[in-house]
Amino acid sequence: MNRKSFLDLTVFDNHSLKEIIKLSDKLSTTRFLLGDVLKQKVIALIFLKHSTRTRVSFEVAIRDLGGSTIFLGRDELQIGRGEPIKDTARVLSGYVHGIIARLYSHDSLIELANYSTIPIINALTDYNHPVQILADLLTVYQEFKTLNVKWAYVGDGNNIARSLVEAASIIGFELCIASPQGYELEKEFKEKYRNFDFIKFTNDPVLSVKGASVVYTDTWISMGQEAEKEKRISDFKRFIVNKELFSHAREDAIFLHCLPAYRGLEVSEDVLEGERSRVFKQAHNRLHSEKALLWSIYSGYLSDKILLK
Ligand code: CP
Ligand code: NVA
Repeated sequence: MNRKSFLDLTVFDNHSLKEIIKLSDKLSTTRFLLGDVLKQKVIALIFLKHSTRTRVSFEVAIRDLGGSTIFLGRDELQIGRGEPIKDTARVLSGYVHGIIARLYSHDSLIELANYSTIPIINALTDYNHPVQILADLLTVYQEFKTLNVKWAYVGDGNNIARSLVEAASIIGFELCIASPQGYELEKEFKEKYRNFDFIKFTNDPVLSVKGASVVYTDTWISMGQEAEKEKRISDFKRFIVNKELFSHAREDAIFLHCLPAYRGLEVSEDVLEGERSRVFKQAHNRLHSEKALLWSIYSGYLSDKILLK
């Protein structure tokens, strides 16, 4: 695998992750701080699923850094007709300088990285969504000037939840994940974090939100789960983040959602649009944190040893 690929947050240690967040914060006020680190570089974006934020923020970030992009949707590559990922990886490695990939299975992403000689950046798989969490960390840092506050995640044990657990384990913040029975993160995953006593899992949304500074949720029906929609809506009913649930958080708590949000399902309209909601700031922060990530990969400013194992 290319050593500079970014498939999950665990490539960072505590120090380097905080450095990236601080750099992202600077970029949020000084857009062109980093110069042309991607000059004459072409980055391909392979998106087999829909996207608004990830696609657009990465395309803008790459252009701001002097590079150019080729967007490849699901109907544009021979992958759609059965060409193996490993062949695609080797072919594209001879044309472009990096691939940002939104795929279904995480194993496919690992295959892409294993067969590429260029950096591969995870733009979401069914397993995790690390670039989203970089923006979430930035949003919390901007709000509280620290990441070490209590985070509550209420909802599906999904890609967002896994990346939040990874972030908590690296930074050391308290995280309580509440999911309905049958929708918890899988046992083997939780087992890996057994020794992190500040990461907790529950089926009780109130327990999760109690005393939290950050209340985070995500859709109950992730991309690819559309067939389960009715069952999920019924199974998740108690897990809507509404005013009542939010009132258990601290008075200065903020509401986060990776978006797109489905009002009346995982979150009520008044919480999403309320004064404690930071969801649009969070979405805008995608641009700054992704730019910092790209810069760290392509500039060589942070050595592999510090930043990318
Ligand atoms: N949050 C997020 O990744 O949004 P998109 O699906 O629009 O990229
Ligand atoms: N869990 C959601 C995140 C969307 C950004 C999904 O995978 O569809």
